[in-house]
This record gives sequence, C-alpha cells and structure tokens, in this order.
Amino acid sequence: MAVNRETLDTLLEENRIFYPDKEFVARANVNDRAIYDEARADTQGFWAKQAENLDWFQKWDRVLDWDNPPFAKWFVNGKINACYNCVDRHVLTSRRTKPAIIFEGEPGDIRTLTYEELQREVMRFANVLKGLGVSRGDRVAIYMPMIPELAIAMLACARLGAPHSIVFGGFSPESLRDRINDAAAKLLITADGGWRRGKIVPLKHNADDAVAECPSIESVVVVRRTGQEVPMIEGRDYWYHELMERAAAECPCEETDSEDMLFILYTSGTTGKPKGVVHTTGGYLVGTSTTHRIIFDHKEDDIYWCTADIGWITGHSYVIYGPLANGATTLMFEGAPDWPQQDRFWDIIERHKVTVFYTAPTAIRAFMKWGRKWPEQHDLSSLRLLGTVGEPINPEAWIWYYKNIGGGRCPIVDTWWQTETGQIMISPLPGITPLKPGSATVPFPGINIDVVDKQGNSVELGKGGYLVIKEPWPAMLRTIYGDDQRFIDQYWSHFGDRWWYFAGDGVRRDYDNYHWILGRVDDVINVSGHRLSTMEVESALVDHQAVAEAAVIGKSHEIKGQAISAFVTLKEHVWQEIRNGDMDRKELQKALKAHVVKKIGAIARPEDVFFTAELPKTRSGKIMRRLLRDVAEGRALGDTTTLADPAVIAKLKAQYEGKES
Ligand code: WTA
Repeated sequence: MAVNRETLDTLLEENRIFYPDKEFVARANVNDRAIYDEARADTQGFWAKQAENLDWFQKWDRVLDWDNPPFAKWFVNGKINACYNCVDRHVLTSRRTKPAIIFEGEPGDIRTLTYEELQREVMRFANVLKGLGVSRGDRVAIYMPMIPELAIAMLACARLGAPHSIVFGGFSPESLRDRINDAAAKLLITADGGWRRGKIVPLKHNADDAVAECPSIESVVVVRRTGQEVPMIEGRDYWYHELMERAAAECPCEETDSEDMLFILYTSGTTGKPKGVVHTTGGYLVGTSTTHRIIFDHKEDDIYWCTADIGWITGHSYVIYGPLANGATTLMFEGAPDWPQQDRFWDIIERHKVTVFYTAPTAIRAFMKWGRKWPEQHDLSSLRLLGTVGEPINPEAWIWYYKNIGGGRCPIVDTWWQTETGQIMISPLPGITPLKPGSATVPFPGINIDVVDKQGNSVELGKGGYLVIKEPWPAMLRTIYGDDQRFIDQYWSHFGDRWWYFAGDGVRRDYDNYHWILGRVDDVINVSGHRLSTMEVESALVDHQAVAEAAVIGKSHEIKGQAISAFVTLKEHVWQEIRNGDMDRKELQKALKAHVVKKIGAIARPEDVFFTAELPKTRSGKIMRRLLRDVAEGRALGDTTTLADPAVIAKLKAQYEGKES
C-alpha cells in the first residue's frame, strides 16, 4: 500500500507525550483502565450495559445477530424511538427546563430551546409531516442551513420512524436531485436561504431546480430564514410557519424497531455514484451516546459545541443524536469562523461559556494562519476539553490548539471514525490515555481494530498497514441503500472469506500500540475534512463539452489538508481553438472549475486545472494518479515501470514544472 515515507518519517519524530491532569482524571466519567479489559472479555455484555442507559419500549432479546454477515442486527427485537430518547425522556426529569439547543445565527440572532420547548416544536412538526402524508418508513429529504428547524425536522422524522436523508446545504441542485432520487424521498424540507459570510445561500432556488427532476417528491416545506422573496408552487410548496400554526400539539412516538432505518447519509466512495449509507436506530443510538458520554466526558452542566454542519455525519452523531440522548446542551452555529471577523468562534466560546469544543484540523490550520491575536482577545477559560475529527492532525497544529485554545490545560481527543462507522472508533479517553500529538491513540473499548498487510496478516508494531475492524460494532452501517452488493464489495470483500470491515485508510501502529492514521489508500480525497471521490470530480469535468478525459488527485494543501488538482485532456477541436486564439486557456480553466461547482458544489472546486495532451496510463489503460500526485507535489516520480509510455509522464512533469499549461 501507499505508505508515504515522508509522513512516516515526520511522525516517527513526534515523541512528545501529554498526561491527563490529576484534577481532570479525578472528575472524569471514566478513569479506570479496567474498562478496556471488561469490554474485551465480554464485548456484547459491555454494549448491553451501555444500552441500559437508553429507554426502550421493549428490551432486546439478543444483543447481536451476526449469523448472516456482513448484515448485522443489534439489540434484536428491541423497541426504541430515537426522538423519545433525545427529547421526551428528558422532559420527564429536571432537564425539562434545561437548554437542549443553543442556537446562534450568522447575523448574531440567538435562540435557546429547552428540552420542553424542543419537544413542543418536534411534536407539532411531526404532525405537520403526518398531515403531508409521511408515515413510518417514508424517506424525507432535508436541505437546510444550520438552524434549529433542521434539528426539529430530523427529530420529528425519527419520532415517526420516517428515515431522513440530509443533504449538506453546500451541495448543488444536481447533487441534491441525485440523492433525492436514489432514496425516492416523498418530501423535501428546505429554507428560503441560509446565511454565509453575509450572503444568502439560495437553498429554495436550488431545491426548485432539483425537485423539477424528482418525481417522488410530493411536497416541499420551506422554513423562512433569510426572508427574501422565493417562488412558491401552489399545491406543492408550504411555509413551515403556516403549517406549524395549524398543527396539533400532541404527537406520540412510534415504537420503532431497533433495526428500523433511522437515516440515510450519502458519502463518496471510489466510484462516481454517492453511496447512501444506512444507519438504524438502537445500535446507532447506543454507539453515539456511549462515545459522547465517555470521550467528551459529558457533564450535566457542560455547554458542548461541535462545529460540524449537521449535513455531515459528525453533525448527525455529535451535534444531535449522541449529545441529546445524554441530555446535553448542544450549541448550533449557522455561520463561518471568519465572519464578521476571524475571532467568531472564540467570541462564541466566551459568550456562551462553552466547556467542550470539537472541530476539524482544517479549521485549526486556518486559525493558526490567522494568528494567536484572535483567541487572545477572548476569555476561553470555560473550556475544559477539546476534540478534533476528519483528517490526521499535524503535530504542530495539535500543539497550537493545545496551547492557544486549550490554555495548556485541556486534553485533546483526536477521534478517528467515518460516515460508515457512525460512532467514534479510535480515540483517547481523556481521563486515561496519555496523548501523543498527531495520533488518534487507541481503539475505543469494545472496538476490535487491527493493522494488516494485503494478505490480512497483522503487521508488527512500528509498521504501517490497512486499517480493518474485525468485529461488528453497534453504530455500524447496515448497508448501502438499495445496493447490498456494493456494500459487500466495497467494505467486506478485501480479506477473503473473513468478515472484516475495510475502512479504506492506512494506519501505522507504534511500539506503544498507538494508531497514526496515514490517510486514504483508495481514490478518495479529503478536502477540508470532507470526502470526495476522484471519480465524482472527474465525471463532472468530463461532462463539460470541451473535455476529453480527466484525472483528479488530492495534493497537500496548507489549510485544506488536500486540495483538488485536475489534469485534463481537451477535445481536438478545443485545442485547435486555443491554438487559433479563439479560446482563452485561463477562461476555459475558470469555466471548468465553475462546471464542477455547478455539478457537485463549492467544496469540490479544483484548486488548479492543468491541460495536458495525454495522461499517464498503465498498459491496461488505468490512469496512474499516483504519478500525477508526484508531479503536483514536486516529488521525484515513483515507480514508472508499469506505464504504457513513460515518455508521457516525463513530458507532463516538465510542462507542469514550467507551468506551460
Ligand atoms: C478521515 C468523518 C485521521 C479518514 C467523521 C476517514 C481521520 C475519513 C480522522 C472519514 C482522524 C476522520 N484522523 N483521519 N481523527 N477522522 N478521518 O466519512 O480518512 O466524512 O476514513 O467521516 O476521514 O470521513 P467521513
């Protein structure tokens, strides 16, 4: 596998260790190492014990059914409702008047919803959904900004047992359309728009473009957020606030089965078509609430802030389901970290007295670039624990975060997991685990992870290999929506007849058994902590009429982690036009970038587009992206012996270095 020597070397140099503070340890929810042995000795018993923290309408009669791998069932025949566990059960306790959600909008508007208020809104909206014909099992698409109505909508779906499919508001109409159609969603919930750096993201407008090609959509519910005029189609579109006014107040929770689908969330794989990752109810809730309680050391008076957008898995698991199942106060922020100024996050932490803060390395690298002066202007003393997720964090960024945000007193939990795993899988426990900057440390109790070679042999300590998960875990994905075969092929078919989950990541395990994630080993790139497949971007490029062929790679980027570089061959007549001066190279590069944004969304915008006469290919015609990566990152070329024509890459490299194109 492609273990990058450079990464390995820098990682090997990192040997600083940070021990948890005595006071933190004394107060930590878990401070006894025995939890690891306990979970190893009886893994199902361990998860069953965690499941007791939730409210079940009917207890399961078997913890795990793994009789038909890779199709797992957790808490078999248990009856449970996710919304009940996240909302209703807290209303019956002293948490009734505790803030469940603290919302801050980009313009500065603040709204707090107590558990009781949240329940009221959710019940009403569940009745709205019912009134529009949504019932158990129907898929509901959601395309919204980070506003409380998004949380209300997803919880209302969960209440009815109607799986939600949330599409990140930064995605294009075409991406939205494909996701709605794949799930055959019946209803779409959106907003007139959302705020982003003072501008309006035209969500309703995008939704209209998408829904025009979505035959399954019967109605569209629109939340008024920005207040600008939007067209409403009679008989299809409804204003959220008007429907809410008329809706009945009471709505019982469906007694859903533990294995009923809770949601679908689309993610990028190695082929172009996004995969609808399916998560079910009981196991997902056990996995997310347990990890939230133990890893984020949840305390009753915490003000917990995970900065992820709910449109990603981190938002599902650690803005909403995990924290609310534990009765936490979760903060939701609509805007960007640099609007109106580069201290917006620190300002929020100071004003709301945030105690636990969870963000992404890409954000931390941006904070570093903006400088210490921004956090220094704010009182961050309320913080007691920090977290990161989404990509490997470089040790310098870790140290910066530790010192400048955590004031040298907050442990950092570097959490490794995926859309597919649903819950955090590798992470320190803040009251137990000594921290090494850049390492996600060790598997969570009850999680069986190994590092193996191509044949599936465990590699020695100190070596790198493939990250595999050898036993099922509660929040694991159950399938790819509508495509069991793809589920099997993609994740479970890499090591013969052993039912091991292959995550697509490379990892090195050091002599202390700590895990150092090396990044993706497949054609998936990680831009700002978000997964994109090279295929998706290539398909978008090839869709443009000027393009003959395209190869896309992720090249290292100071802030984004990876940035997209596109190598494009043009159709013959387009070359002609460029040579004749009828077409401008720069204009075409711009147009191609814009085309990708239109097809997928702004996160997929290539940083640079390079025109080349030919792409390096193997004799069997496979594009060798690895060599393009060497070119883009200015390295000596790796092994070129399998190339059909080595002259192609030599020429391309010379041109690229002269930036002729
Ligand atoms: C990467 C995000 C290093 C990894 C929750 C994984 C990480 C992919 C870490 C999943 C981490 C996530 N250290 N790499 N702490 N966390 N990754 O599905 O490559 O958006 O496979 O889920 O992000 O991305 P996804």
